[in-house]
Amino acid sequence: MNIKEQTFGKTSDDKNIILYTLTNANGLTAKLINYGAILTTLELPGRDGKFTDVTLGYDTLEDYIKDDCYFGATVGRCANRIAKGKFTLNGKEYCLATNNGPNHLHGGIKGFNKVVWDAEVFEEKTGPAIKFTYLSKDNEEGYPGNLTVTVIYWLTNDNELKISYQAETDKSTPVNLTHHSYFNLAGHDSGDVLSHELTINADSFTETDETLVPTGEIKSVKDTPLDFTTTVRIADHINQVEGGFDHNYVLNNKNSSLTLAAHVYEPTTGRDMELYTTEPGVQFYSGNFLDGVKGKNGAVYKKHSGFCLETQHFPDSPNKPQFPSVILEPVKKYTQLTVYKFSVK
Ligand code: BGC
Repeated sequence: MNIKEQTFGKTSDDKNIILYTLTNANGLTAKLINYGAILTTLELPGRDGKFTDVTLGYDTLEDYIKDDCYFGATVGRCANRIAKGKFTLNGKEYCLATNNGPNHLHGGIKGFNKVVWDAEVFEEKTGPAIKFTYLSKDNEEGYPGNLTVTVIYWLTNDNELKISYQAETDKSTPVNLTHHSYFNLAGHDSGDVLSHELTINADSFTETDETLVPTGEIKSVKDTPLDFTTTVRIADHINQVEGGFDHNYVLNNKNSSLTLAAHVYEPTTGRDMELYTTEPGVQFYSGNFLDGVKGKNGAVYKKHSGFCLETQHFPDSPNKPQFPSVILEPVKKYTQLTVYKFSVK
């Protein structure tokens, strides 16, 4: 089996955290831990055949426990912001933990990135995989209902990191899961990502207020620096956007089939990433708040050292009836599929 397990640490309540290394037929490796269902490392070849770790992260469990950047994390129960941490569902108001100014962000103080998941590794013809499961109890961080969540990561022999999500609940609840890796296709410790070339298949985005909560308006990207409908070097637009990119794009695909959402190319190493998803939105975040974070192997991550493309439903959906719904009903199943496909060009 192309899967290795080694001890990564122990939580304060004595739970063993294991580092799982998945290797595919082409020698690509993905490392994951059962704390936060976090991807700690992704090693990909470049044009010169050299394998390099392309995701930002830490060396120790203690650092992941302290982390507030969400490096490599599985984010839930609701990714992104919920205004004032409040929403009303079936006539009842729910109050969530607020952990980002006045708002709720990425599931709250102890989101899915800060809990211990059950893990099970398996191998299929398509490559090695790991299945994480977690029961988020009724009222956790203020959310209604017991929610059973499954996240499976495959490292396929077609050089894809494929992430599939499922969830079921016993009470109506909002659910909006995402993956929060910060990529730098030149290498996690190679400086900023501004020379990466980006395309996003989105003609519009959700406008936000000064706390990054959507106003409810969907605006065209045309004639704005947010326009990535044709390929743009991130550097060529970033100075025109105050604070950098931290925007939810409304993807052009409207039918929840697995569709190309974005494409990123790093010219010096030739590494190329295509992002496919069944979700209606993707948050493009250019690592604006990285401020000298001490990471793996002595690396120091500064502003724009990595970028995130977080596939998800739109922020603050529980308060925006005009957005696609994130409410999961007890009789239904939440599903999501997102694929990061890598190659060298
Ligand atoms: C958000 C940023 C936030 C970052 C880390 C991103 O998904 O869009 O605003 O700072 O996560 O928390």
